[in-house]
This record gives sequence, structure tokens and C-alpha cells, in this order.
Amino acid sequence: MNIAFDLMKVTEAAAIEAAKWVGTGRKKAGDGAAVAAMRQAFSSIDLAGRVVIGEGEKDEAPMLYTGEEVGNGRGLAVDIAVDPVEGTNLMALGRPNAIAVLGAAPRGSMYDPGPSFYMQKLVVPKEASQVVDIDAPVEDNLDHTARALGKDVRDLVIFVLDKPRHVELIQRIRAKGARVQLHTDGDVAGSLMAVTPGSGVDMMLGTGGTPEGVISACAVVALGGAIFGRLAPKTEAERKTVLEYGTDIDKLLTTNDLVDSDKACFVATGISGGTFLAGVENDASGIVTHSMVLDGGSGHLCMVRSVHTNIG
Ligand code: FBP
Repeated sequence: MNIAFDLMKVTEAAAIEAAKWVGTGRKKAGDGAAVAAMRQAFSSIDLAGRVVIGEGEKDEAPMLYTGEEVGNGRGLAVDIAVDPVEGTNLMALGRPNAIAVLGAAPRGSMYDPGPSFYMQKLVVPKEASQVVDIDAPVEDNLDHTARALGKDVRDLVIFVLDKPRHVELIQRIRAKGARVQLHTDGDVAGSLMAVTPGSGVDMMLGTGGTPEGVISACAVVALGGAIFGRLAPKTEAERKTVLEYGTDIDKLLTTNDLVDSDKACFVATGISGGTFLAGVENDASGIVTHSMVLDGGSGHLCMVRSVHTNIG
């Protein structure tokens, strides 16, 4: 879809506002500022967007709630998934890799996570997309991925969120000889790295947010890797609401189940900066942002440095 560059203005606006809150310890305030900026930026775009993944239900989130229509209503009809600050703790604590992200795909093609919060995920580059199985032992997936990438298992780098639920997973990856790259937050960035050649990450494993899984799938579609997921409710209450919503909780979710279109696009703009995507900077010419723009339709991946000279 050739709206990817228009959508970049939306993540840029969110990142610029969120960056003002980096290191302040105030994650809600920073998130709120980014949401407001995103919404404002959407209004000037030729788009008939409907938020499938937003900041919550209408009553909980005043803006960018699930079901909200965004854009000026005159352009393509698309599903939109937003995370104005992916890594709210990273932003608030002044840690790297907080990013503003957005995925878009033709109307009706995005998976509706409903009330599901958590999903088990396995993300690999395209070379390994046919040889992994989320239900197989992790050791087998490491062996098969290493072979598909022409690497030794000892050279594989696996992105894992540093959470108590992953203690055994981490131990097994290391016992097999592969390396674990631990991050406190931000598995969208982890998924992106896993499918981006040269990022230094070969695979993303573990349980993280379900909405983040769908957003990640937009990037995976555009870059040609694979994401596999299975809902993994953390509590009995979550399991119950997901079942009541009518979701098949045990279904294996493939990339196409999460985003059923090869025309998805994905945009990310760095907030706090990191090795993968630099953050918002100020220099003599203005505010500088760094974004990754992926357009599944054309197959283009663009890394964009924008200078915003008109912002006070
Ligand atoms: P937020 O930006 O909403 O705080 O999400 C950050 C994140 O680390 C996601 O990248 C990840 O999918 C999810 O939280 C994991 O959730 P939890 O921290 O509850 O394990």
C-alpha cells in the first residue's frame, strides 16, 4: 500500500511527543502525549482507517480506541493497529528501544485479538520460515534455524524478554549453545530484528502481548519472514474472557492468520533510540527522527531520517 510514507508522519508525531517524556518516570503521561499526537496526525491523511488494535475499549481509552475511525475518510479502507509507545517502561526509565509503531492492512485482514493480552510467539527470518514449529522442542527449532541460515547453533542470537516466565526457555537455549539477547520490554522490536537481515538477531521467542503480535505480523508480512503464535492467557480470568469472546484459544496462528494480506505495511519511529533505530534528536536544523518504513505491496524497506524544521 503506498500509504506507508503518509503513515510515517503519524509515528513521527507520536515519537516526537513521547521523546519529551523519556527518563521522566511518567509512562502514562508520555503514552497520553503520543496518543494525542498520533490521532492529530491521522486526521490529515487520506485514509478510511478503522482501529483494530488500539489503546483499549472506548470507555477506557478516550482516543485511538478499538473501533475508532481514523484518517479523513477519503482514502483506502484499512485496518489499523497502533502502539504509540511500544515500551512505555523503556521510555519512562530512559532505556533504549522505545518505539512508536503502526501497522496497516486492507480492511478485514487483521486478526482481532479481542480481550487476549498474552501470546506465545516464534519469529524467524524467511529462510527459516518453513523449518520451525512452535510446538516442537526449542532445541529442534534452534537446530533447524541454524541449518536454514547456514550458521552454527553457537552463532544464533535469540531475542527473549527478560521475564520470570522465560527462565526455563532461556536455560534451554543456552544449554543448546545458542546466545540469548535479553530485553526487559519491547518484543515488537525483537520481532522486527528477527526478520531484518543484519540486525544481529536470528529469532524471537517467548510470550508477550497479543496486540504486539499482530502489529509485528504486519512487519513480518512486509519483510517476508514468519511469525507463529498461540494465545497464552496468563490468568484464569483472561482465559475465561477470551473464551467468552468466542476465540479459538488453542489455534496455531500463522503469519497469514494474524494479517491475511501481502499488502500490509508497517512503520516504526525511534523514541529513546537504540542500536536498531535511533531515537528523537535535536540538532541545529530541527528535530530529527529515524523511522523504518515497510511496504508489503511494493516490497520496499526504507530507513528514513527526517528533519522537522517546522516544530517549535
Ligand atoms: P507496553 O509498551 O504496553 O508497556 O508493552 C511493552 C511490552 O514489553 C511488549 O513489547 C510486550 O509484548 C509486553 O510488554 C509484555 O508484557 P509484560 O511486560 O506484561 O510481560
